[in-house]
Amino acid sequence: MSVKLDETRTSETDEQELKEKKHITILAIESSCDETAAAVVRDGREVLSNIISSQIALHTIYGGVVPEIASRKHVEKINYCIRNALEEAKVSLKDIDAIAVTYGPGLVGALLVGVSAAKALSFATDIPLIGVHHIEGHISANYIENKDLEPPFVCLVVSGGHSHLVVVKNYGEYEIIGQTRDDAAGEAFDKVARAIGLGYPGGPKIDKAAKEGNPDAIEFPQAKINDAEYDFSFSGLKSAVLNYINMANMQGQEVNKNDLAASFQKSVVGVLTEHAMKAVKEYGCNKLAIAGGVASNSALRASLEEACKKEGVKFYRPSPILCTDNAAMIGAAGYYEYLKGTRSGLDLNAIPNLALGERERKFHANYKKEK
Ligand code: KG4
Ligand code: ZN
Repeated sequence: MSVKLDETRTSETDEQELKEKKHITILAIESSCDETAAAVVRDGREVLSNIISSQIALHTIYGGVVPEIASRKHVEKINYCIRNALEEAKVSLKDIDAIAVTYGPGLVGALLVGVSAAKALSFATDIPLIGVHHIEGHISANYIENKDLEPPFVCLVVSGGHSHLVVVKNYGEYEIIGQTRDDAAGEAFDKVARAIGLGYPGGPKIDKAAKEGNPDAIEFPQAKINDAEYDFSFSGLKSAVLNYINMANMQGQEVNKNDLAASFQKSVVGVLTEHAMKAVKEYGCNKLAIAGGVASNSALRASLEEACKKEGVKFYRPSPILCTDNAAMIGAAGYYEYLKGTRSGLDLNAIPNLALGERERKFHANYKKEK
């Protein structure tokens, strides 16, 4: 590694130091998809640095993320991101209490780069390692700018790979009450954007186009499942959009992209708002948070803000930069795992389909015992 090691710590000095510490400082690493990221986070809520190296421009040429290219780019950028995160935070490795890293879910080759870098650093410095669930990271992004937010609360997680309604019962304790049966919300945005030639990534492009369009121009079906009150299904909506485009093409009619984007977005936002508000009422915690890339959607934020205001529910949403993939959120989640005593061994591995709340316990055996 090109990161300079200032000091190698022994477990005895480590323990003594931690007892005397006022603050817990975490170095966090994220590489699950197409952003290489590293951050330094203090006490779970104070971001000292948040370095993100985005590969979006590179993947845009191919219309989506190419896993092999993503892995190679992560290898190129990871040391740079870690070094920058430490420098910007004005800390060195001897100030770091734990290294938190995303170990799933995500692209296996991409995850492996972050996990390997974190393990190498942990091995070289004796700093404890903590594997973090990517979605737990997205949810924890809410703690960063909302110092008052404490569980329990309901969180709507909508990203490129996931659409979950989660009850956050306590730090690191989750109950999934609803999820998508097929495509994730972000995936639907990306596919619809591609179909109307807006390119990748589709979410922000649909968001922008929708601002110029009429949301009532086309009536698309809602992304609902009749027999499950909290689940979503976006593939039917996506097919309806594709059928609409095909029909228009066959009839030689031009598709108004802005109207289509606005109408599609209205349908997605409608069902996400309806389910989220129902969950807050049912689970009685009066607090709603949102997370994941789609949580930066301006129409979704406005719709939930209005619904929460109407119902007297406190609404929490991270800034857009903390909604899309970043390492600060992994540092926030890592902090609460650290407090719970979660420590990963050097056998930590990337788990592409890791489920939320079902940590692979074998990678989190007691750190001290493993040494
Ligand atoms: O959370 P994220 O950065 O990565 C995953 O963990 O998947 O989410 C990426 C997804 C992409 O599908 C992208 O199109 C979507 O979030 N997205 C948006 C917006 N910004 C990003 N979707 C709707 N509106 C946006 N403004
Ligand atoms: Zn993500």
